[in-house]
Amino acid sequence: MKIQIFLFLLLLLLHSICCFAQLHLNFYQNSCPNVESIVRAAVKQKFEQTFVTAPATLRLFFHDCFVRGCDASVLIQTNNHTSEKDNAENLSLAGDGFDTVIKAKAAVDSVPGCKNKVSCADILALATRDVVALTGGPSYAVELGRRDGRISTRKSVRHHLPKPDFGLNQLNAMFAKHGLTQTDMIALSGAHTIGFSHCKHFSKRLYSFHSKNRIDPTFNPTYADELKRECPRNVDQRIAVDMDLMSSFTFDNMYFKNLQMGKGLFTSDQVLFTDPRSRKTVNLFASNNTAFEQAFVVAMTKLGRVGVKTKNQGEIRIDCASVN
Ligand code: HEM
Ligand SMILES: *[C@@H]1O[C@H](CO)[C@@H](O)[C@H](O)[C@H]1NC(C)=O
Ligand SMILES: *[C@@H]1O[C@H](CO)[C@@H](O)[C@H](O)[C@H]1NC(C)=O
Ligand SMILES: *[C@@H]1O[C@H](CO)[C@@H](O)[C@H](O)[C@H]1NC(C)=O
Repeated sequence: MKIQIFLFLLLLLLHSICCFAQLHLNFYQNSCPNVESIVRAAVKQKFEQTFVTAPATLRLFFHDCFVRGCDASVLIQTNNHTSEKDNAENLSLAGDGFDTVIKAKAAVDSVPGCKNKVSCADILALATRDVVALTGGPSYAVELGRRDGRISTRKSVRHHLPKPDFGLNQLNAMFAKHGLTQTDMIALSGAHTIGFSHCKHFSKRLYSFHSKNRIDPTFNPTYADELKRECPRNVDQRIAVDMDLMSSFTFDNMYFKNLQMGKGLFTSDQVLFTDPRSRKTVNLFASNNTAFEQAFVVAMTKLGRVGVKTKNQGEIRIDCASVN
């Protein structure tokens, strides 16, 4: 009797360990063994055509995972413009991110054995790992086995993505909903080491902080002057600036060094240093790139597990831009 209970508990334990994440490192080992190198080659080719491939893909993955889980729902297009990507919150997701996944999917499907075997959600996860490595960041093993979602609505984006004027409590609350800690959130914010932002996301900090005609006091004055030159009042909406002014094309820990100097672009960036509760972690990542990279990989792996659909849930989308 006792031994039966013991075995039962052991089984329960093993089950929870094995299937907690539901994803597996070698998920396509038999169905499409070369999926990683096929995706990597397609992403590299696209990256060599345009740098924006990298920030656009990285941000696309984040937005996908935070809305309905990492299920490629962000890639779905509807003729009536009612899907996730049509929400104002899409904040100009650069088209090159979408294009990267479409191209990698085409490359995978051109290998006869692989056709319609690999989900768009997994291709996005792999492409994201590849662009981080291509820009000088860490590489890491990607868990696979995500299935693609069949629902994508503009409405579902509301309240699911962080806003650039968020403070620490709001950031922590939103990331905690997805099982991500403050340290994960800070490490993931390090993604702002590459890419660009349109002026409207921080112009209030420059011109009307707290609705008054003044500047956010946590800004480094020299940096603020530079931003004012690049983003004068009523600037063309299409103008974008480097998010990491020192090295916007390299994935490194310069983002955290910038925060120490008051050179964070958004409130949500600068607050990580201003707030004493998160400052220690910023200082650690600023002083130790290895510590940042390790934390980033841990956090990306957790991000990649958010709300995933597996086994018989969802589908393997044939065309990443529309449900089967
Ligand atoms: C912590 C809360 C976050 C906020 C408030 C935030 C907000 C923003 C905003 C407003 C932009 C500018 C978009 C534009 O004007 O085109 C941006 C860009 C970007 N974000 Fe975030 N973000 C956050 C976290 C993240 C995370 C977790 C990642 C990825 C792991 C990420 C990756 C990026 C990238 C790579 C860009 C550059 C996009 C490009 O150049 O096309 N962000 N973010
Ligand atoms: C938009 O199109 C989708 C499918 O393409 C449909 O399910 C949805 O009901 C349409 N929404 C509106 C508001 O017409
Ligand atoms: C983002 O949303 C705006 C409208 O809110 C839309 O005009 C734009 O085309 C969308 N961008 C993408 C890449 O879907
Ligand atoms: C940097 O962080 C890594 C990883 O956490 C650690 O092993 C290493 O000792 C740290 N280096 C220094 C100089 O503190």
